[in-house]
Amino acid sequence: MRQPLVAGNWKLNGSLSSISELISGIREQLLTVNNAELAVCPPYIYLSHVQELLEGVNISLGAQDCSDQESGAYTGEVAAAMIKEFGCKYIIIGHSERRHIYGDTNDTVATKFAHVVKNGLTPILCVGETLEEREEGHTEVVISKQINAVLDLFGVEAFRKAVIAYEPVWAIGTGQVATPAQAQEVHEEIRLTLDAQNKDIAANIRILYGGSMKPENAKELLQQPDIDGGLIGGAALKADDFIGIALAAN
Ligand code: PGA
Repeated sequence: MRQPLVAGNWKLNGSLSSISELISGIREQLLTVNNAELAVCPPYIYLSHVQELLEGVNISLGAQDCSDQESGAYTGEVAAAMIKEFGCKYIIIGHSERRHIYGDTNDTVATKFAHVVKNGLTPILCVGETLEEREEGHTEVVISKQINAVLDLFGVEAFRKAVIAYEPVWAIGTGQVATPAQAQEVHEEIRLTLDAQNKDIAANIRILYGGSMKPENAKELLQQPDIDGGLIGGAALKADDFIGIALAAN
């Protein structure tokens, strides 16, 4: 049985005080969530602050990205091993904003994936097509290239501890959510790709949906057989909405 994961990607948002408020709002309602695992991914600089706030609380911590390097002269970078020191369990990699704004290629993402796994953390590998790619009928090809970049280099075993997030680029932050059927189709395709190489890994890996997920649309999405949770942007910044989505997984 795959436990649903609802992970908040806070992106470039928050301050010491707003984060404290958000975490206490989530904590107040945490006991109502009895099925999903919750995780929050703050900006790097707040990891230590959030780690303290979450002490003894059943919420996992994650980072939003990591370097493709281990250490050295790479100004501005943060390594997976450093992130590990702050109690993180997850690192999001290959988010479409990293791919499209900061130029992460499939190869860069695969290297980052390897660093995360090597450090004993769990990558949340984001994949997804642009609107243009979907309209041209290239969704399947784009997603399989993104997955195969990791599969070809590191093999299916690298996915044993991983999470995948399907995030159609056109749905991120736009309010235009994928229909449950559209999302399920891609999720199933991803699981089948892994299934061709290892049935056990395919059956156990959690595949999250991301892109304008809200309490109002979460239930129908989470009811799909291959949707195992959500990667939540905007709605993760409000305690009620974040918990609302987690409750939809109950
Ligand atoms: P959104 O973002 O929920 O605001 O659409 C999702 C994401 O980018 O992970």
